[in-house]
Amino acid sequence: MLTAISRYGARVHPTTQQIVAACRERGEFIQGPQIAAFEQAFAARLGAHHAITASYGRMAFYFILKALQFPAGSEIILPALTFWVVPELARVAGLTVRFADVDPTTFCMDPASLERAITEKTRVVVPTHLYGLPCDMDAILDIAGRHNLAVVEDCAHALGATYRGRPVGTFGDGALFSFQTLKPLNCYGGGMAVVREAAVAERVRQQVEALPWPDEKRIANKLLVGRLQRIFTRPRVFTFTGFPILWVSSYTGAQPDVYLWEKIRPLSPLPEDYLERCSNAQATLGLAGLDLLDSWTAATRSHAHAMTAALADVPGVQVPTEPPERTHVYYQYCLYGPARDALVRDCIRRGVDIETLHVDVCTQLDLFAAERGSAPGADRAAQAIQVPVYASLTDRQLRRVMKVVREALTSRLQAAPPAPSQAARL
Ligand SMILES: Cc1ncc(COP(=O)(O)O)c(C=O)c1O
Repeated sequence: MLTAISRYGARVHPTTQQIVAACRERGEFIQGPQIAAFEQAFAARLGAHHAITASYGRMAFYFILKALQFPAGSEIILPALTFWVVPELARVAGLTVRFADVDPTTFCMDPASLERAITEKTRVVVPTHLYGLPCDMDAILDIAGRHNLAVVEDCAHALGATYRGRPVGTFGDGALFSFQTLKPLNCYGGGMAVVREAAVAERVRQQVEALPWPDEKRIANKLLVGRLQRIFTRPRVFTFTGFPILWVSSYTGAQPDVYLWEKIRPLSPLPEDYLERCSNAQATLGLAGLDLLDSWTAATRSHAHAMTAALADVPGVQVPTEPPERTHVYYQYCLYGPARDALVRDCIRRGVDIETLHVDVCTQLDLFAAERGSAPGADRAAQAIQVPVYASLTDRQLRRVMKVVREALTSRLQAAPPAPSQAARL
């Protein structure tokens, strides 16, 4: 019997259980020396000077913004297409949020739109290397330099990606990384702030060290939830659990995906679990995971390139771009095809789970009603579909995903071939 393939596949270190058990045995589940070791190894890997762990990537971002000490009334520019939590935390950190549009071809911030969004109050810009592709850093750094703006890179999706051979996270004044279960480095939660200047790093560290250590039960719970996510996305389990819900929904029009995501809401005051430190068990997993990162990245990239080759001759389909100066780590593989929702339905009915929008068009959210504006690039980017190419897919599963996506695209295109003008836009 054919099994269904989940949209998600976590990167799991093969000795995860042993690593966690050993931390417990040593009495180092929450506090321990691997936190500093992970910070040092992470910084060394990037060729950066300072790396500081945090409870979440978003909190790493918050601490960096606070540590950069912008004057009251300062504005921050973020891409309109990003995870809503990021601009919300900029707001909690006391900044006024502005959005720049994204280039729908790369899904990254459009430098021309950034330049237009700058006012005399702008102090900082956040290039988000969305879905694992680095932003156009030459253009963004040039604009930031001319307007005297700080640069804080959002690398939540992009650990391992490079721009002109240099790792993302080393271009700005600071950078955040996320270690949630599905991220390039999975520590079942946690984040890292990478900072260029020693004084700023010291201010980030002071904020982190003022926080309590997490409760052992909470961390055990995070590890358990991560383990369950992992189990439920395994093809054999997914086929009989999440998949039937998605399959039925493909006929009823229900959208069960919304339950997978964090509720969009104001984050002031900050939730309790944000205000604690990263645990030693998670740092130990991160440290071990760093050794496997390059092989995970290589597997994901090879799957993505195979997918691109498999779809190369399907007319009217736009596969992800990878400009020559950038390496894409394909946290998400996004493509444009015809009739997005029908296409997703076709794939689900053939046993391949496809995601539509992994982040948010923030300019469309009520949470940012005051910052709403037009971001046609982000609106367009929301029409892409996201096809599984994650590292843990076997060759057989990958071939199946390629076949199903190709067949679904071909039959949709036969049903409704793109108009010449639309084909040019695709
Ligand atoms: C683009 C982006 N930035 C930042 C974050 C925040 O990371 P964390 O969930 O670790 O706070 C995420 C999380 O998914 C994200 O997608």
